[in-house]
Amino acid sequence: MRVSVVLLLLCLSSVHLYRAVDQPVVGDEQTEFTQSQIEELKKQDRGLEGSVDSTELSAEEPGEENSNTAKVAFSYASGLNGNFGPHSSDVTVVFRKKITDVGKAFSPITGVFTAPLRGVYYFRFNLLGISSYWLAVCLYKNHTKILDVTKYPKGQYKYAVGGATLLLQKGDHVYIKLRQKSQVSDNSDNHCTFSGFLLFPM
Ligand SMILES: *[C@@H]1O[C@H](CO)[C@@H](O)[C@H](O)[C@H]1NC(C)=O
Repeated sequence: MRVSVVLLLLCLSSVHLYRAVDQPVVGDEQTEFTQSQIEELKKQDRGLEGSVDSTELSAEEPGEENSNTAKVAFSYASGLNGNFGPHSSDVTVVFRKKITDVGKAFSPITGVFTAPLRGVYYFRFNLLGISSYWLAVCLYKNHTKILDVTKYPKGQYKYAVGGATLLLQKGDHVYIKLRQKSQVSDNSDNHCTFSGFLLFPM
């Protein structure tokens, strides 16, 4: 019993000793320097907290908050090796072969671009016809036809080329339709492409 009490006392006093050595002497130059450093660190800490907060905010709301920094730009080729069409009705042209895709707003499965945010966009297409069928291509915004480019290749190489600047709401769709009785052709040289990009958010 007694031995353990003495040991305990010894331990406690040595802890006190260590504390006394560790503690800086008030008024010492070095202490003041340390104090100002602590203030500085505290300030930096607050700054960091602030930046962490804003990061969390933008992570929570990727749409509206980030709209001024959004990057949207794509170019896809048809990926066809041969002909597409003719069909008995108008059909959406799917562009499967990625050239560039920043923002992943264009679907190479459906051929439809979906605006990730409200803004002004530019779209352009090149489509090749080489047969005796029509080459009639339309650019659509949702269910509205924006423009139509029609050629009659008659066995020659003819390109239907068009483009438009569109003000899109978030969620609006843009795609290309091949009109009925039309045909497009492509090979690995990418004669058929669809491109678009965000000019600026609004
Ligand atoms: C366009 O279509 C999308 C998807 O169906 C829809 O969310 C949006 O409201 C439509 N826009 C207009 C202007 O009709």
